[in-house]
Amino acid sequence: MSISPARAVAFDILLRVEQQAAYASELLHSDRLDKLSPADRGLATEIVMGVLRWQSRLDSVIATSSSRPLSKLDPQVLIALRMAMYQLMFLSRTPARAAIHDSVDLVKRAGKTSAAPFANAVLRKLSDSAKAAARAPADNLTVPELSETYAHPEWLVGRWAVQLGVEKAAAICRHDQQVPATSIRIDGDSVTAELEDEGITLAHGALLSSARTVIGGEITQTRAYREGRVFIQDEASQLVAALVGKGSRLLDCCAAPGSKAAAIASRNPTSEIVAVELHPHRAELLRRRVQAANVQIITSDVLQLPPHGEFDRVLADVPCSGTGTLARNPEIKWRLKPQDLSDLHTKQVSILRAALLHLARGGRAVYSTCSLEPEENQAVVDEVLQDNPKFALLDCRAELEALKDQGELATSDLDSILEGKYLRTIPGVQLCDGFFAAVLERRS
Ligand SMILES: C[S@@+](CC[C@H](N)C(=O)[O-])C[C@H]1O[C@@H](n2cnc3c(N)ncnc32)[C@H](O)[C@@H]1O
Repeated sequence: MSISPARAVAFDILLRVEQQAAYASELLHSDRLDKLSPADRGLATEIVMGVLRWQSRLDSVIATSSSRPLSKLDPQVLIALRMAMYQLMFLSRTPARAAIHDSVDLVKRAGKTSAAPFANAVLRKLSDSAKAAARAPADNLTVPELSETYAHPEWLVGRWAVQLGVEKAAAICRHDQQVPATSIRIDGDSVTAELEDEGITLAHGALLSSARTVIGGEITQTRAYREGRVFIQDEASQLVAALVGKGSRLLDCCAAPGSKAAAIASRNPTSEIVAVELHPHRAELLRRRVQAANVQIITSDVLQLPPHGEFDRVLADVPCSGTGTLARNPEIKWRLKPQDLSDLHTKQVSILRAALLHLARGGRAVYSTCSLEPEENQAVVDEVLQDNPKFALLDCRAELEALKDQGELATSDLDSILEGKYLRTIPGVQLCDGFFAAVLERRS
């Protein structure tokens, strides 16, 4: 019996995530997956994301039957063990025999033949008790219990509990362990009808009238998706782009992969839009994804960007920890360290300061992240405003009310997505990623 193609691909992706700090969601969209059948693609995705979501829980079960500390195992062996454990614990329709057999063979395929009997022994010992180890979690968990049950680092859950309360911290943890909704942005009702004709089942978005949630069907296989008339984009990300609004000259300072740039372009079809991206390979991705004729893409560090004339709208959607997107990018929670937050803060302050240099009098800048951490959010805005009296923080409530009046905002519950003057979504509280946004105006 040879290794199933889905498990072979899942193993290779997990190894790259572990050894090369790659992102699983990007690798899962690579050419290698195109060669798999839809069922194998589904299984590979399920295993990769499941292993990354549940990693610490899987490790603690494996450790109970391993004669060696997990820190001493080769990464190839540990990954193969995690893959089998995930299937044994969480996938009811996968035969245990196939999961164990393939993991043992993956250990051999990776050149770790001497570790194959060890992997086989560990997995066989755990096979019968695995489903019980995936017990349904109780309510009212403490921070350490949340961390253990929902496989999140305790320092992160502890921060959320302090800032948001234990209940919201629990909601975030639960949300992060599930497959997140696929949201799309549509331009016009005719696309909805076309998608439904192609077998896609859609529900209205919770936040925006242009958003739909995909309930059934493979959206990436539709004509409208292939032709760039429908875009996969989380609703909170769509809302940030809506906050940027309309202008005659718009600057997107940190633009790749381009979800917000594309949304801004479709909202401003006749305006001049400049989209800046630091990394050449990401700028290339941006070029492929945003082809609107009115968008000029520049590969540059925004900190060094020469004057391009003034802009009446600027977006600084800065690089961040991504703690609001852990359901989509679960590897982040294992990589992030508390000290990273202060490094990110410093970088974000520099980028926001640089972005504001390009803003015209009376113009508006949106600062945004997909982080839940105050160091990357309010603290950045506070620090930049402190030494920039020319700029004022606007109240996002007024901006959202204007979007509501224009029929763009679908929700009336503004309180739940506002914190003070900021926009703030919380995964698990809202059915979207966790985003933060502030609107700054340059006084005329
Ligand atoms: C959060 S992502 C932006 C996401 C994007 N706005 C979207 O909606 O698809 C941040 C991007 O900023 C880029 N970046 C980081 N530092 C930068 C800098 N100094 N100048 C320009 N781009 C930068 C990163 O490479 C990354 O692609």
